Amino acid sequence: MAMKVTPFRNPAEPKRQSVRDLAAAEKGVLRFLTCGSVDDGKSTLIGRLLYDTKLIFEDQLASLKRDSVRHGTQGENIDFALLLDGLEAEREQGITIDVAYRFFSTDKRKFIVADTPGHEQYTRNMATGASTADVAVILIDARKGVLVQTKRHTYIADMLGVRHVVLAVNKMDLVEYSRARFHEIVASYLQIAEHLGFESITPIPMSALKGENVTKRADTMPWHPGPTLLEHLEAIEIADDRTNTPFRMPVQWVNRPNLDFRGFSGTVTSGSIKPGDGVVVAKSGKASKVKAIVSADGDLPRATAGDAVTLVIEDEIDASRGDVFAAAEARPEVSNQFTANILWMTEDELTAGHAYLLKIGSQTVQATVTGIRHKIDINTLDKTQGHSLGLNEIGFCNVTTNQPIAFDPYRFIRESGAFILIDRFTNQTVGAGMIEFSLMRATNVHRHAMDVTKATRSLLKGHRPAILWFTGLSGAGKSTIANLVERRLADMGAHTYSLDGDNIRQGLNKDLGFTDADRVENIRRIGEVAKLFVDSGLIVTASFISPFRAERDMVRGLVETGEFIEVFVDAPLALAEKRDPKGLYKKARAGQIRNFTGIDSPYEAPVSPELRLDTSAATAEALADQVIEHLRKTGVIGSASDQSLDFSI
Ligand code: ADX
Repeated sequence: MAMKVTPFRNPAEPKRQSVRDLAAAEKGVLRFLTCGSVDDGKSTLIGRLLYDTKLIFEDQLASLKRDSVRHGTQGENIDFALLLDGLEAEREQGITIDVAYRFFSTDKRKFIVADTPGHEQYTRNMATGASTADVAVILIDARKGVLVQTKRHTYIADMLGVRHVVLAVNKMDLVEYSRARFHEIVASYLQIAEHLGFESITPIPMSALKGENVTKRADTMPWHPGPTLLEHLEAIEIADDRTNTPFRMPVQWVNRPNLDFRGFSGTVTSGSIKPGDGVVVAKSGKASKVKAIVSADGDLPRATAGDAVTLVIEDEIDASRGDVFAAAEARPEVSNQFTANILWMTEDELTAGHAYLLKIGSQTVQATVTGIRHKIDINTLDKTQGHSLGLNEIGFCNVTTNQPIAFDPYRFIRESGAFILIDRFTNQTVGAGMIEFSLMRATNVHRHAMDVTKATRSLLKGHRPAILWFTGLSGAGKSTIANLVERRLADMGAHTYSLDGDNIRQGLNKDLGFTDADRVENIRRIGEVAKLFVDSGLIVTASFISPFRAERDMVRGLVETGEFIEVFVDAPLALAEKRDPKGLYKKARAGQIRNFTGIDSPYEAPVSPELRLDTSAATAEALADQVIEHLRKTGVIGSASDQSLDFSI
């Protein structure tokens, strides 16, 4: 069949375009991925598709390594691989994603082929290619049939949200064009792929070497009426996911050139928007309408996925980098706990409990994989147990973030369901994740924005709200000092509340014991309660051993900067044990209490607390004064010379 070449922008040209911009700008672009190894005839197949017809001009073929794409997509539009979106971090490090993108076109359609190495150690390459693909062409050598790698390719394609598969049964010439062999292979393939999420699976018998059923029909296989691979790729209908899904736009920055203009800039990642449409800021629930859509080409009547725009909103609403504007009638989920498939991309293993940075859209938060529900053996697709993930391994995990994030399940909107994990210390991208579902029991709950805010409440109280988080060993003196601090604050007329381990464990947390998991849940609940009190304008003292850094950091992340004041009540174990006010150390030493902090359960001292109180060197009164002094210094309460607490925030 005739392949006609139409002009196609070369992304290596100076006007640097990202692949997604390219795809969005050109209607009818089909992105596909070829999976298989050289042995399966992959290069021959791609060669057939690209070069055979001789109608393709050399300069319109751009073979793009990850590197060149990377340089071409700097700035806010980095997006050729959704999964690896926003890879500023990745740039500085050793991960090489080896994906070659090739471009060609016929008179019916334009194509972008992602070609990735097929070996197991290149799982992350294939995942990168698959993350933007509409179709996966899975190659099988007709002599060998369905192999381990076929399963692997199929699984990754499914996990990365590819909806259509072409089963390219190649080398049919070497099995005498046997119809029976073809059907046998198709049947065994369907056994693997049937229960996965594909919308279509199209088997095509072919010989790439002889050019049969690739771009030309084969007389040798009259039992296969068609289509050829190219005919199928030209005709396959791809629902335009990115424009049919609800409107989403992560805010990259707030555009405020002067007092008269305030707009929110970003790239529409899903759906479309026009002036007058209702939008919400996903996390705060603040709703308004779009007043205008400003772009480099002037005001637009409409913006769709892929467009970089600035939204001007009718009401003054608060949103900043990291927020997501969403269609008011179809909001994303907002949660800090969810499940995700995570593909691990580095030699250092992913360990449950370790804290990473998670980047989704324009937002970066702290995240912990709280558990690996199961690992997936990508060769057999078996689910296995495991506590860690190695390079190129995939696990279905529970993830907790220190603040809620707005997302959509990856299967629903790839752009807003994909994230990367970054090592906090090395700044390396270590994993890529696809969110499956929120773990909040109550779904479809959306924040209702209240008129009376924290600012109003704290203005009425005359001081700023804060959490004084006292952490330290049992017997260190947390409750004693907290009690003195609250007394002093009350005497000054401040509004306070005190949360204390032993007290809370008799009510709200009476179902919790002292296992690591229970302590984590203890602090999570206290954190939420403390956050509510801060929202109500109070100065809260919280006295909990809170032995784990990650949980204390989690609470810190729940409130605004400056509102969480970590006070390390430092008493060496020997001293706490000597004091032993409740006789618990004695019991723990005698084995009557298990999991006792400092004895057979760990305590992670704060690394850089706002305050460290040395209980071996000063009295509780003196230490309480230090806390009050800190509150004055940081402006939570008025200075000593103030007659009253009458100051505004
Ligand atoms: S936390 O570790 O989850 O933060 P929390 O501060 O709420 O602990 O409770 C600690 C208090 O519970 C201690 O002050 C002590 O009185 C009591 N307690 C009873 N059993 C234990 C234990 N195994 N480890 C620590 N504290 C215990």
